[in-house]
Amino acid sequence: MSTETVLLVGATGNIGVSMAIAVLRSKRQVLALVRNQASAEKLYKYLGTREGVTTVEVDVMSDGGIQSVVDRVKTGELPSFQHVFSSGGGDYVQRDLSTISLEYFRQQMTYGVEVNFLAYRATVPYLIAQGNPKSTWTICTGAQGDWGLYQMPAIAQGALFSMSAVAAQEQKETNVRFNELYLAYRVEVDDDADAHGVVRASDFGVIYERLLERPDIRGMRVKILDESDIADLKFEPKGMPVTHTKE
Ligand SMILES: NC(=O)c1ccc[n+]([C@@H]2O[C@H](COP(=O)([O-])OP(=O)(O)OC[C@H]3O[C@@H](n4cnc5c(N)ncnc54)[C@H](OP(=O)(O)O)[C@@H]3O)[C@@H](O)[C@H]2O)c1
Repeated sequence: MSTETVLLVGATGNIGVSMAIAVLRSKRQVLALVRNQASAEKLYKYLGTREGVTTVEVDVMSDGGIQSVVDRVKTGELPSFQHVFSSGGGDYVQRDLSTISLEYFRQQMTYGVEVNFLAYRATVPYLIAQGNPKSTWTICTGAQGDWGLYQMPAIAQGALFSMSAVAAQEQKETNVRFNELYLAYRVEVDDDADAHGVVRASDFGVIYERLLERPDIRGMRVKILDESDIADLKFEPKGMPVTHTKE
């Protein structure tokens, strides 16, 4: 059986590094979208290896950026992938909405929301065309969308909750197993986590290893409210529970 590859969007962030660690641990390979060589080097450093990792520089915020990567995959220039994990996110800061400029709002929505949409739009048709019954597409969202403590991350999460409902509907009967990981605590790359007393990326990554091995979890919000939820996955359906006929 050929080795599976996971395309990671937001690969050099806290969650992306978590997932990259999990992917390598599960003997799969990483295809990481990075903004520049410095980010690629940062990822290699976090992982402690270059083996099994392909990085590709791309402007994920441009209309055709992620699509251009998929096009290069199709020509064989880059490795084919069977899974996508998307965790594009903006700044994790608290700023009252009344102090935020329209420019900053749009910038945060671009990275917090649009990148995930662009990733979905570019990769889902490829995964469906490949027809691999094991394909998955997973997004990370956060409880900030319900808590509202960090203003811009919260608003972005709200949109991602809805995008996840749409994706769950759209992929209900395809070969692409879509799920939303809903995370309610802070995860950071290991050194930062140790310094800040939050959960380490390498520990959190276990959730993805488990999810990839659970074909029964499909169209779900997987809720990670505390660390015990990694050992025993808890999930609930996303989107309309009954099959909706497209008009
Ligand atoms: N971390 C958590 O505990 C947590 C909890 C719940 C939900 N989430 C959600 O998960 C998602 C990711 O969170 P995170 O903590 O992993 O975020 P993060 O550490 O801030 O990572 C952000 C990622 O986005 C990239 N990025 C940011 N701005 C960019 C830009 N202008 N151009 C290109 N790339 C850019 C970064 O690349 P560079 O490395 O090149 O800067 C990095 O790969 C967010 O939606 C967040 O709300 C996270």
